[in-house]
Amino acid sequence: MADVVLGIETSCDETSAALLVGGSGSRPPELASLVILSQDIHQVFGGVVPELASRAHLAALPAVIERARAEAGLSWSAVDAVAVTAGPGLVGALLVGVVYAKALAYARDRALIGVNHLEGHLFAPTVEDPELAPPFVALLVSGGHTLLLDVPAWGRYRLLGATRDDAAGEAFDKVATLLGLGFPGGPAIERLAATGDPGRFTFPRPMRDEGLEFSFSGLKTAVLYAVRASADLERDRADLARGFQDAVLDVLVTKLARAVDVTGHRVAVLGGGVACSRALSALAAERLSGLARVAVASPRLNADNAAMIARAGWWRLQQGERSDWRLDAQADLPLPGLVPSSPFPLPSWPKSS
Ligand code: KG4
Ligand code: ZN
Repeated sequence: MADVVLGIETSCDETSAALLVGGSGSRPPELASLVILSQDIHQVFGGVVPELASRAHLAALPAVIERARAEAGLSWSAVDAVAVTAGPGLVGALLVGVVYAKALAYARDRALIGVNHLEGHLFAPTVEDPELAPPFVALLVSGGHTLLLDVPAWGRYRLLGATRDDAAGEAFDKVATLLGLGFPGGPAIERLAATGDPGRFTFPRPMRDEGLEFSFSGLKTAVLYAVRASADLERDRADLARGFQDAVLDVLVTKLARAVDVTGHRVAVLGGGVACSRALSALAAERLSGLARVAVASPRLNADNAAMIARAGWWRLQQGERSDWRLDAQADLPLPGLVPSSPFPLPSWPKSS
């Protein structure tokens, strides 16, 4: 039983620590503190530089963890377990968190649990919405992933569709670069698109009308050509951002609605950094109205953060799982319990024996 769980997240460019307290049985724990330090050094390079990310984590992590402890008003002796992102992510960045978590847990003789970053994103909305539980469909959209999942129960994930090329967030970041906006691109595009004319640029909606897979590289190229063809980028920038954002969100929400339809679930969870987009959650709520409730965490919990890692780790600890001292960072760590996508019609889950 773990009453107080320290979460640590260092998979990309956020150094984060959080404390969750007081969960037991089916009652999830509450957030006692969450500290997120976003590394701004990457802005001058227009993307995350892995080696710089690792070094920045190393410099910041002890202070970030200490701050989370102090904000929660807890002593170290109160902490029962350490949950840490073990992957997927940048291996050097992950390693800093994993090594630190192992040292802490070993020195204080506490439980250790390695957490999959994507499972963390799935659990994120439950930090604010403790009633939220499977079954549901989930759309995980981040800088590295675009996944549509059928979640019949925690720990059981069926892949409905993924991207064949770029992740949705990656497309936002690349298009932002084409438009001369800063990094990360998603928030900059959303701000600009709000002032853009939706009628001036209509971009292709790749694969929208077939299946549950995604593709964004052709859309990115279409924006590139439109940027090249623009005689006045200053004038067109907001309209291009709007046209691009409308195309991505249309594809994402159309597929999410299709997933709701094929699974019959009445809840749709949005997760990952792109789920910070209010335009995305508004469109999903509008299109799924009467079909499914759209559950989405506040932006602080959708972007990379340690609260979601502590929450997923708490659930794994509740299942009796522990990691041992061989826990290692793994850049391509697969989502535990993931079964591959299946052709239509979707077969039902095998009955547990
Ligand atoms: O989950 P996340 O914080 O990091 C990864 O695990 O990748 O996701 C970061 C991604 C970036 O690509 C960023 O541009 C995107 O989320 N993002 C957004 C918005 N806020 C963040 N994309 C679209 N609209 C937003 N408002
Ligand atoms: Zn993430």
